[in-house]
Amino acid sequence: MEQTWWKEAVVYQIYPRSFQDSNGDGIGDIPGIIQRLPHLKDLGVDVVWLSPVYQSPNDDNGYDISDYQAILPEYGTMKDVEAMIEKAHELGLKIMMDLVVNHTSDEHRWFEESRKSKDNPYRDYYIWKDPVNGKEPNNWASDFGGKAWEYDETTGQYYLHIFSKKQPDLNWDNPNVRQEIYDIMNWWLDKGVDGFRMDVINLISKDAAFPDDPSVNYGKHSSSMEMVANGPNVHHYLKEMNEKVLSKADIITVGETPGVSTEDAICYTGFNSDELQMVFQFEHAVIDDSKEGLGKWSNERFDLVELKRILSKWQVELHNKAWNSLYWNNHDRPRVVSRFGDDSAEYRELSAKMLAVTMHFMQGTPYIFQGEEIGMTNVAFDQITDYRDIDTLNAYHDLVEEQKRLTPKVMMEFVHHSSRDNARTPMQWENTNQAGFTTGESWLGVNPNYTKINVAAAKEDPESIFYFYKKINQLRKEYPIIIYGDYELLNAEDSEVFAYIRNYKDQQLVVINNFTDQTVSRDFAIPADAKALIANYDTDLGTTLRPYESKAYLLRKEG
Ligand code: GLC
Ligand code: CA
Repeated sequence: MEQTWWKEAVVYQIYPRSFQDSNGDGIGDIPGIIQRLPHLKDLGVDVVWLSPVYQSPNDDNGYDISDYQAILPEYGTMKDVEAMIEKAHELGLKIMMDLVVNHTSDEHRWFEESRKSKDNPYRDYYIWKDPVNGKEPNNWASDFGGKAWEYDETTGQYYLHIFSKKQPDLNWDNPNVRQEIYDIMNWWLDKGVDGFRMDVINLISKDAAFPDDPSVNYGKHSSSMEMVANGPNVHHYLKEMNEKVLSKADIITVGETPGVSTEDAICYTGFNSDELQMVFQFEHAVIDDSKEGLGKWSNERFDLVELKRILSKWQVELHNKAWNSLYWNNHDRPRVVSRFGDDSAEYRELSAKMLAVTMHFMQGTPYIFQGEEIGMTNVAFDQITDYRDIDTLNAYHDLVEEQKRLTPKVMMEFVHHSSRDNARTPMQWENTNQAGFTTGESWLGVNPNYTKINVAAAKEDPESIFYFYKKINQLRKEYPIIIYGDYELLNAEDSEVFAYIRNYKDQQLVVINNFTDQTVSRDFAIPADAKALIANYDTDLGTTLRPYESKAYLLRKEG
């Protein structure tokens, strides 16, 4: 397998709105990011993925872009972005921009033109359809609730929006649209950015027949995202993008791809596919979705055997063919320690470290989401009015107010479990008012546990989660087996312990993780001369595994 820098890199995701405010308006900004770059350098990451900072009416916090070549004034100026890129490069960090081109904002100039008339030159930049029997062209459901079509009176047609109605889908079948996007991407590369994270990039090609989605059930919480995913021309368009943009520079690329199988992923990212380098697959990220058909709205706990099956399948099936991304968290998912670990005072640190080992010792490029490195947890605001996320607010409206399927109390439990705002509460820097995020009033409440969980406290404690992540990042640089070794799951049916081995040249790595709060016993026949690479307890009891114990040994293979 070819060795490349992006396989060896660790990526850190910044959600700019919640990272660091520099001017007291309660909104994180680019000068705030610049101020905090040394924190990332200290952690030992290589690439910073920045969620969108472009001009946007913020219907979906920047994932609705109205100008790809301008910066939202709340976040700063283009000069600030240039300064950030320069400062990052000085520190040896690369910058990966978020590229949201399945859709634009309805306030983008292209859409404002497009909706004016059927013969406007921008009409075909978007997907417009006549009503069918006076109704929507098909039954597709928006991922944020309700229908995926919005009627526009000016021209008497519907436009498609897989997300909010302020996020109309672009028509990628129009070559002019594709060329505009490639030009924008090249413009950003000329500014010195080092890569792109591509938002729902596998939704860009729609089936020209626009068939109904058999999974849609408006009485529940439906989304036609998977129906639209991996459409007929998507590989053609990505190969074209690769030829016209991506192949021209030594950059890092990752596509966000709901509903991909390992076979699909090999098409997108196979070492000879000339499309992308990695995708974010969704299988483990939706593992605890509602069994009642309410999408993510549930408070179910995941099943470890199933988690092992999914992650191991991706490890094995992509091996030597394509490259995995490794993630627990991002701005759309609840906090890993609350979801897959145990965020109680007793076990938060142990389980956060265990989860880090489980994920980062697999094959792939790890992604750390801001706050994960200090074990930030989910939040539980009392009122739905304390939430800001459009997805959460729409779902509350649909499920509680419109359809009356859930009581407010049950829905709030689900919100506490699954809302995207769990990931979006401000970064906890220190034990001062507003966690050092802002001197003003934060746009979204700070998690009250900032008094204990914050960067300053973590840096003072040599045993903290922060130093543990830092150590993992260092080990990755020292031991190529962590990056390039193959993978084999041990004891697939064990519902308490997640253990696997990696093999590389004459070495073997054994990784053992207790996912329970109980002491258990497992014998992995670790030889006495094995080297302990990392552990989250400071003594080793051999076959006895204490609650959330995690350890990895390096062995020399015999023969
Ligand atoms: C992706 C983003 C999410 C956004 C959606 C629409 O899933 O990660 O935050 O709401 O696309 O752009
Ligand atoms: Ca600000």
